Amino acid sequence: MIRPESLQYLSVDRFGTDPFVSRLLLSALNCGLIDRLTQTNAVDEKSLFAGLPFDECGRKVMIDTLKLGRVIEGDRGEGARIRLTEEFRGVLPFLELLHVRLRFAELVASDFFTQTDAWLISNDAFMSKSRLFEYFDYRRCLEVTSENCRHAARWMTLTTVLTRYEAPVCCDLLDFGQFHRMLDIGGNSGEFAVQTCQRSPGLIVEVADLPVVCHVGQQHVQSCGMSDRVTFRVFDLAAEPVPEGFDLVTFKSVLHDWPDGVVSDLLERVFAALPPGGTVLIFERMAYDVGRFSVTFSQLPVALFLRSYRHAEFYKRELERIGFAMTSVTEFVLDVPFSLITARKPV
Ligand SMILES: C[S@@+](CC[C@H](N)C(=O)[O-])C[C@H]1O[C@@H](n2cnc3c(N)ncnc32)[C@H](O)[C@@H]1O
Repeated sequence: MIRPESLQYLSVDRFGTDPFVSRLLLSALNCGLIDRLTQTNAVDEKSLFAGLPFDECGRKVMIDTLKLGRVIEGDRGEGARIRLTEEFRGVLPFLELLHVRLRFAELVASDFFTQTDAWLISNDAFMSKSRLFEYFDYRRCLEVTSENCRHAARWMTLTTVLTRYEAPVCCDLLDFGQFHRMLDIGGNSGEFAVQTCQRSPGLIVEVADLPVVCHVGQQHVQSCGMSDRVTFRVFDLAAEPVPEGFDLVTFKSVLHDWPDGVVSDLLERVFAALPPGGTVLIFERMAYDVGRFSVTFSQLPVALFLRSYRHAEFYKRELERIGFAMTSVTEFVLDVPFSLITARKPV
């Protein structure tokens, strides 16, 4: 069962709805305005903006908009005190996540608003025009250079923070303590691996990813004090045999990136590598309907990949075709629908 505390992070979404308010909130986060407000009970306007380059009009727009968005409250004018609303104080434990989601949305917004028609035509049409894919360019993850590491570290901050809040849900739904050696394919910075290890003291994890990602990930895992249990292996999931010696192989938010043929082939290679009784796990956003989950500003990055998300049925069908025995298909809603799918190689 998902613990209620694992879902509390979803409360940040209410501050990412309106594009104008959300974008100004991002500026307020970027320039340290929100930090100043968190450090005090209430502050006057002059102290709040001290040292910031906004003119009188800019300050007024900022104040009015943050009030409109229920981020702050208080009067304007000489001596008036401004404070965070109780509602916004409620999301302070997740401020890092809110900041990352708004940064990510800003990153994709220019692509979305300038290339909307291409996006409506097809993924390929959109990708050929979009600048987002330069940012997440996996070709720059093959050769470990300081420039490539700096580039990857920037986008890995986004994926790491998103995973920090999604991983606990997966750990609530599955007891990772029943496994001994886990291989997390496309495991990025190792954040998911770190969290599974924290919840299951007997588990050790190998993260399999591209060379630059492994290099940057090692530093992240080291900073979490988990280097003895989370290690990295350079691996190309599109081509190489899946390494043996693991009783659990996981894919968290990875398979939607790949066409059906690659996914089927990869799952076949996982089957070949697992020992009898070994488990494969898929934790992914699922296909969803924007009529039911309307797209807010902070949801833009998820919505842009709408076509890539599949129905759980696809994975179930492929796993059974390959010879796996299904052990669970759990469907639930976080920001959008997700599934946790597990299957076992028969003994
Ligand atoms: C969408 S991210 C998901 C990362 C992580 N699992 C998470 O949930 O935060 C996809 C991951 O797949 C990795 N990746 C992309 N192409 C790959 C390849 N050919 N072989 C191995 N990993 C790859 C990326 O480096 C990235 O870490």
